[in-house]
Amino acid sequence: MILLDGNKVSAEVREEIRIQTEAHIRLGRRKPCLAAILLGNDGASETYVAHKVKDCEAVGFTSKLIRLPDSTSEQELMNLIQNLNQDAEVDGMIVQLPLPRHIREEHIIQTILPEKDVDGFHPWNIGLMARNLPAHLPATPAGILRLLKSYQIETAGKHAVVIGRSNIVGSPISILLARNAYPGNCTVTLCHSKTQDMEAYIREADILVVAAGKKHLIQAHMIKPGAVVIDVGIHRMESPESKSGYKLTGDVNPEGLSEVCAAFTPVPGGVGPMTRAMLLENTFNAYLKHV
Ligand code: GUN
Repeated sequence: MILLDGNKVSAEVREEIRIQTEAHIRLGRRKPCLAAILLGNDGASETYVAHKVKDCEAVGFTSKLIRLPDSTSEQELMNLIQNLNQDAEVDGMIVQLPLPRHIREEHIIQTILPEKDVDGFHPWNIGLMARNLPAHLPATPAGILRLLKSYQIETAGKHAVVIGRSNIVGSPISILLARNAYPGNCTVTLCHSKTQDMEAYIREADILVVAAGKKHLIQAHMIKPGAVVIDVGIHRMESPESKSGYKLTGDVNPEGLSEVCAAFTPVPGGVGPMTRAMLLENTFNAYLKHV
């Protein structure tokens, strides 16, 4: 059984980016720069954005963290994005989701210049991705591919079952795993809340990607022996033994998992750190086109 170690692989990715960044700076170029926009005070979003800023520092990027109140209007946010679009010092930007209800997410995403859309959420980037052309790939799906590649997991001809059809994970990873590429060439089934008899599909999955946002939706006994399991979920669970009183867990119950599957991503330390590393990679790629 192989543990797909996102901490280890993401550290390798960061080190590679750090070395390349250093080489550019030595040539007298400016540092890559990521702008992160955060509206409001949602605890999870604050943590995610703080990590992104810290990651930038670790690889020698600069970052601009722009914090705005919940009450910011859609027009104000669009004006800010347009300014960042025109700012030659900014290579990439992200608007942390979810946004307050009065702001239309789709309008905001489509205001970001596709070249600076390092989240890979703009329809332009999604379209390029679907056509198997170079694009900023959404960070979580890109991180999953990088992990599979790093551990040389065979994907061609395998049945990949994806649980969850979100714009951020489920939908793009289903497209990516079906592409004529490595990792890819899978036969993909995309399951969601309206799927009938989901367990029948799970039983047939050689590669199971779970991005349902439901704690321990998947139990070891449901999984095909020898499957590769990618757990995108992240949830807090009470844990009297830990200092904070809680621990993190995923959409897959880890109990008995190692006896059933060939490889799996732990939570924490699997997909999460890979997502963060891929955002850095997209930002660095945007910088290379731009500097
Ligand atoms: N909210 C949850 N995941 C993400 C992400 O990858 N990017 C942004 N911008 N917001 C998110």
